[in-house]
Amino acid sequence: MSLPSRSLDLREQLQRHLGETYVVERELGGGGSSRVFLATEIALQRRVVLKVLPPDVSASSDAERFRREILFIARLQHPHLVPLLNAGTVVPDGGGAGLRWFTMPYVEGLSLRELLMQRGALSLTEVLRLLRELASALSYAQARGIVHRDIKPENILLSEGVSMIADFGVAKALDNAVATSPDGKRVTAVGAMLGTPAYMAPEQIESARVVDHRADLYAFGCVAYELLTGEPPLLRASLQATLAAQVSETPEPVSQRRSDVPPVLADLIMQCLDKRPAHRLDSASRIVRALDELTQAVHTSGTFAAVPRGSTMSTTGTERVPTLPGAPAAAATMAAPAAATAASTSAASAAAASAGASTSPRLSPVAILGVAVIAVAVAGWWFAVR
Ligand SMILES: Nc1ncnc2c1ncn2[C@@H]1O[C@H](COP(=O)(O)OP(=O)(O)O)[C@@H](O)[C@H]1O
Ligand SMILES: [Mg+2]
Repeated sequence: MSLPSRSLDLREQLQRHLGETYVVERELGGGGSSRVFLATEIALQRRVVLKVLPPDVSASSDAERFRREILFIARLQHPHLVPLLNAGTVVPDGGGAGLRWFTMPYVEGLSLRELLMQRGALSLTEVLRLLRELASALSYAQARGIVHRDIKPENILLSEGVSMIADFGVAKALDNAVATSPDGKRVTAVGAMLGTPAYMAPEQIESARVVDHRADLYAFGCVAYELLTGEPPLLRASLQATLAAQVSETPEPVSQRRSDVPPVLADLIMQCLDKRPAHRLDSASRIVRALDELTQAVHTSGTFAAVPRGSTMSTTGTERVPTLPGAPAAAATMAAPAAATAASTSAASAAAASAGASTSPRLSPVAILGVAVIAVAVAGWWFAVR
């Protein structure tokens, strides 16, 4: 395929060169270096989203990031991550850098940003479900060594109320296989600040190179705080002030901004917002389990108000799941649905069985002897009176 004059509008260029396969419709937006269009895939008569890197940035370091975005998404398969459908490059007439593009399913609905603009803070039930979905997607990405680095409401799309993370445009792979360009050079821009200030972890502001999955957990904390209060924790009037606040200010506890947040959820969010990565929860999967425990406790007690504060969550060493001391039956039964593995389920069943055994009434040998003596005496009396 070849490109016509650059004076043609990007949409027309795409239509001209991809026209056998797609009808390129309106532009959806996007504020980054790429452009995002709604399109129809002709053969399958389905709506798709076409993301493309325009000519003016196709030769820059953004081009390498875009190539990596395509490779990242191609590796991901999870219900709460927007998948890749197809990818290609349109080659310009006069040579030079081609226009890379890829398609993904059209997630028809609002972004989380649009939902927040319409509704403001959400209900606890909605927040818990959305956070659970988000944490499970992050856990999946984390297990594959991918840090998204731009988790924010704009990049979370809602389809029938179910959330999907999009936009791996500034994602980073922790293994060298994907983080290197074809010529073997590392592509992480030295000194480049990538991300969105109101959701950026302090270490991400200081250096894009040192971030790992814990930066995504910080952003997760910011999104959680915003879903509950209507605002991210350290949003300030200017970008600079927001960046400075992320690095040096302690956010107001979420429980002071919204009083009905269960303490265990408030603790979890504030722990994600710790400035020190080592003091955050150590994995998204632990957040998933903590949220499952909370959901189970709410289910058991029938209300958010009755869920007590958990013990401090361990941030190091073993995968200790935060418990909810004082949640009577819930404490024992919550582990099973939380971990959702055969091993933990059977462990929970064994625990339940032993709990049942310890509380069921038992007859001591003395009592049995007593009953036998009484039975013999009654039998003797009966024979005597016959
Ligand atoms: N698969 C999709 N389905 C529906 N809308 C999408 C999809 N992908 C992106 N969008 C819309 O386009 C916007 C920009 O896309 P995004 O991938 O985040 O690009 P950018 O890198 O420019 O932020 C999103 O915020 C969303 O509104
Ligand atoms: Mg985006």
